[in-house]
Amino acid sequence: MGFRLLPDHLNREDQQALLDLVMALAQEAPFTRYVMPRTGRPFSIDMTNAGSQGWIADRSGYRYSPVQPVTGRPWPAIPATLLDLWHTHTGYPHEPECCLINHYRGEGARLSLHRDEDEETFDAPILNISLGDTAVFRLGGPKRTDPTRSFPVTSGSIMIFAGPSRLFYHGVDRLRVGSSQLLPDGGRLNLTLRRVTRPTR
Ligand code: SIN
Ligand code: FE2
Repeated sequence: MGFRLLPDHLNREDQQALLDLVMALAQEAPFTRYVMPRTGRPFSIDMTNAGSQGWIADRSGYRYSPVQPVTGRPWPAIPATLLDLWHTHTGYPHEPECCLINHYRGEGARLSLHRDEDEETFDAPILNISLGDTAVFRLGGPKRTDPTRSFPVTSGSIMIFAGPSRLFYHGVDRLRVGSSQLLPDGGRLNLTLRRVTRPTR
């Protein structure tokens, strides 16, 4: 059990179906440009969520919230297609509670090296699904100072961060802008499915 990359795992129809789902979700819960807690500087990507818990950021910190911070409404439910992918690829016996959706619009969109550590439990893997332009992804180890490697992640690829890799540093250096025609306006969408709270059963 560890890190797995399944390149080009989803076929074109499945990718299109997921894209349609994301566009529908974004009608209910609009993409928002969060600011970073300490600096107040905006991210270079837009984010929204599905699920009972959505990941948000503002001047007071990074955390999970049951509502979209601008509209105050609960996030839409995680679609069944995504729950199926979660169960197939993680083998985790409980449901994910968050599907964070990142929108990288083009040149200059990136995500600096970080760990996903705002969850109550790290037992569940993280499932990562990519749509659209290829990302130059960076993966390190459990410590920020560990050596990192970078590799391309294409549309339809799935990554599973299980076992120790659940807490590995990772980020997106940049997009290969124009490498995919999937998104009508170009760019990349990334979906990460997470368990947030510790299951009681
Ligand atoms: C993330 O680390 O939250 C997303 C990484 C990605 O866009 O692939
Ligand atoms: Fe992350």
